[in-house]
Amino acid sequence: MSVHRVSELFALAYGYRPRAVASAPGRVNLIGEHTDYNGGAVLPIAIAQRTWVAIGSSGGGGEHGRLRSRAVSRERGEAGEWCAGDCRASGVWWDYVAGSLEQAHALGAARDGRDVAVVSDVPMGAGLSSSAALEVATVLAALAADRVEPPLRDVALAAHRAESEYVGVACGIMDQFASALCADGHALLLHCDSRVALDVPFPRTVLIVDTATPRSLRLSAYGTRRSECDAALAFLRSAEPSLASLAQATPELLERAHLPAPLDRRARHVVSETARVAAMVEALEARRPFGALLTTSHMSLRDDYECSTPELDWVVDRSVARAGVDGARLTGAGWGGCAIVVGEEAGLEMLGPELLQGFATAWGRDARVWRTTPHVGARIDLQG
Ligand code: GLA
Repeated sequence: MSVHRVSELFALAYGYRPRAVASAPGRVNLIGEHTDYNGGAVLPIAIAQRTWVAIGSSGGGGEHGRLRSRAVSRERGEAGEWCAGDCRASGVWWDYVAGSLEQAHALGAARDGRDVAVVSDVPMGAGLSSSAALEVATVLAALAADRVEPPLRDVALAAHRAESEYVGVACGIMDQFASALCADGHALLLHCDSRVALDVPFPRTVLIVDTATPRSLRLSAYGTRRSECDAALAFLRSAEPSLASLAQATPELLERAHLPAPLDRRARHVVSETARVAAMVEALEARRPFGALLTTSHMSLRDDYECSTPELDWVVDRSVARAGVDGARLTGAGWGGCAIVVGEEAGLEMLGPELLQGFATAWGRDARVWRTTPHVGARIDLQG
């Protein structure tokens, strides 16, 4: 459906048909939070909402004979224009597109003036990886237009470089890998140190609850936590020089090392969360209950990692004891954004409206909810 919408937007903006369309989804992480940049494992699913990117060659000349690229978006506001090969981000939405086109070029796509159109139903600013979806879809569309077809993991890495090196957000690799590699009906077990990824069947439904908190705090607090984890690792290495990453520390090592506060709590979260990911995968494979792991993860994020908010805690508290609910926790970076409630479709269908109403009464503003099952990751939708 949105393949047509994005093709129409493209034709309207540029007066010709796109050469390729690719799409990529947003994600929620089931468990394994703040482990990706610590060398641990994560377990995200792709959500139903996607971003579609249509692409063609503008052939347009820019200043000093440099090729000009252009981007339009149905949701993101004003149209953008820049010179292909410009290596500076300027704080606009099309930085994600410009950075991704540069990375597609590094993977073998021509460095050309490009025309790009974007249509998306991934909620923006909610912590559902709308930027990763845009980056992954752009890299894949640019490559598809030139009939270059690298493995999707290379597309994920290129999209991650666009975010970290071009846009300048020092995130881990989870979001781009989830958006690129997730399989329908499955969660993606990604070992972030080796980047080995495995599909794990996930036959449950997820209710996503956006607590609608502004994003700025999330970015700055995220940087602080990363520095604290680096400091904890350096500290632990003075006791255990061969320690490869914080996620590989054992509870015994933490005990022995006497980390100063708050590094002790940050490290305890990373180490216990890494164990919970393994336990969750085992439980899913053996079809055993796993809900308590989700809820324990939330408590660890709240108390040890200190990245929850009263609103997120409220959603978790209201959801966990309900019929048909396995467990609940905040998802993504935290400090606002979304919580997930995992369970049976029917129970979550009833819970959604109740949470919306209760949230508005308790917090004086509106939350948003969506139900999802695990969807497919990035794909090429049209190749001319
Ligand atoms: C954000 C980042 C991810 C990851 C999570 C926390 O979503 O983009 O790389 O670090 O926070 O798990």
